[in-house]
Amino acid sequence: MLSKKIPIDEAEKKGKNTTIYGSRYFSQSVPKFEIPEKGMPSQAAYRLIHDEMNLDGNPNLNLASFVTTWMEEEADKLISENNGKNFVDNDEYPQSEIIQKRTVNMIARLFNVPENYSFIGTSTIGSSEAIMLGLLAHKWTWRKKNEEKGIDIKNKTPNIVMGADVHVVWEKFAKYFDTELRMIPMEENSYVLTADKVKEHVDENTIAIGVVLGTTFTGQIDEIEKINDLLIEIKEDKGWDIPIHVDAASGGFVVPFTSPDFKWDFRLEHVRSINTSGHKYGLVYPGIGWLIFKDKKYLPDDLIFHVNYLGGIIPTFNLNFSKGSSMIIAQYYNLLHLGFEGYSAIMENLMETTRYLAKNLNKTNVFELLDTELNLPIIAIKLKEEFKNKFTVFDISRRLREKGWIIPAYSLPSNVEDTAVLRIVIKENFSRDMAEMLIKHLHDLFKEYNLGFKEKNNKNKHSVVNIF
Ligand SMILES: Cc1ncc(COP(=O)(O)O)c(C=O)c1O
Repeated sequence: MLSKKIPIDEAEKKGKNTTIYGSRYFSQSVPKFEIPEKGMPSQAAYRLIHDEMNLDGNPNLNLASFVTTWMEEEADKLISENNGKNFVDNDEYPQSEIIQKRTVNMIARLFNVPENYSFIGTSTIGSSEAIMLGLLAHKWTWRKKNEEKGIDIKNKTPNIVMGADVHVVWEKFAKYFDTELRMIPMEENSYVLTADKVKEHVDENTIAIGVVLGTTFTGQIDEIEKINDLLIEIKEDKGWDIPIHVDAASGGFVVPFTSPDFKWDFRLEHVRSINTSGHKYGLVYPGIGWLIFKDKKYLPDDLIFHVNYLGGIIPTFNLNFSKGSSMIIAQYYNLLHLGFEGYSAIMENLMETTRYLAKNLNKTNVFELLDTELNLPIIAIKLKEEFKNKFTVFDISRRLREKGWIIPAYSLPSNVEDTAVLRIVIKENFSRDMAEMLIKHLHDLFKEYNLGFKEKNNKNKHSVVNIF
């Protein structure tokens, strides 16, 4: 006979000792399609959702995502203390805005804005919003310049030039904002945008060149300085003043700390705007991004709206109106707490782990690195030709998932779509120890495929395989 389930409060009233799992909510299907007529106790709702969330992957083993999965307790505390604040309501929350300004100041200087420029910037939900806003500003500037010269733009189509190594948000911009997309394909063994390729694609209607500091596909860096030099020449020859927008989503919080002398930023004349993701190597949870213009003259006033419905006049330059203040505050916390030295120490460790992992992946003799320079903590590998008839990178990705690792496999964009890669993003909480585990699991997998690595690696007594 089925026993009658008793709600937890009734059970307690009747003096029965049980846990929340003894209540009826755990023997009934959970509402999925309509708001339930009657709710449930907070304890039950929490447990039900908490337990269901265990079906998600473990963020700490997620080497697919660039996004921060761990912050310090003090940061967590600040975030929860400020979670209820809507950043846009800066009449009510003026201090949030002050903190945004301080953070914009720090990031603009990290990106080396020359002293004689009046930079301006904003926080965004992420790099995608920042890129859209940056490119909109360049489109408006192109329009304004034409108007000033008395040129009718009705029959002109603005275009934007970039490599096929860009993130999908660049294509979205072209489509959403009606701009001709001039996307330069990748080539075998050349996965970045070079100055030579740019030269053939620009004209007087090019609103901007998009370059990447740390591409999504391979973690490499476009030829930013050479492209800048090319644009200086073009300006002298033809009078076209074409801006560069640098997508530093991943690299913006790495390269300034690991290679401060490497020129990719506002030190270059044509770099007029830069975005970075605070939630990637800025070491903040999602969603926070930053957009900085080298000078306020590159952000046309037309794009800034002034609203008064929250009390006070509020200027806004964002795609979304409301957003939380917490992540802006968390970014400021990191900058304040870590300082240049703290970020540098973390980034150096990440690069050390990256080099270690890359060396050991190479040693397997199964993989080939797409980029041996390793400027960012991102590793892209492909299978060596001789293993392609045994398995694919998609098989490896799937099998590693059984061990909990989330390592994506994907094909490169058109023109090099026959190349399939695995990408590993090394994040703050991915230690050398974890790298050793990953290599161990790969070796276990190869043993199953009878690839005979044991022999080869055991010759080296320091090989990672011997640790286990
Ligand atoms: C190079 C690059 N640009 C832009 C983006 C989009 O960034 P977000 O997720 O912060 O919107 C990414 C995301 O991975 C990226 O790798």
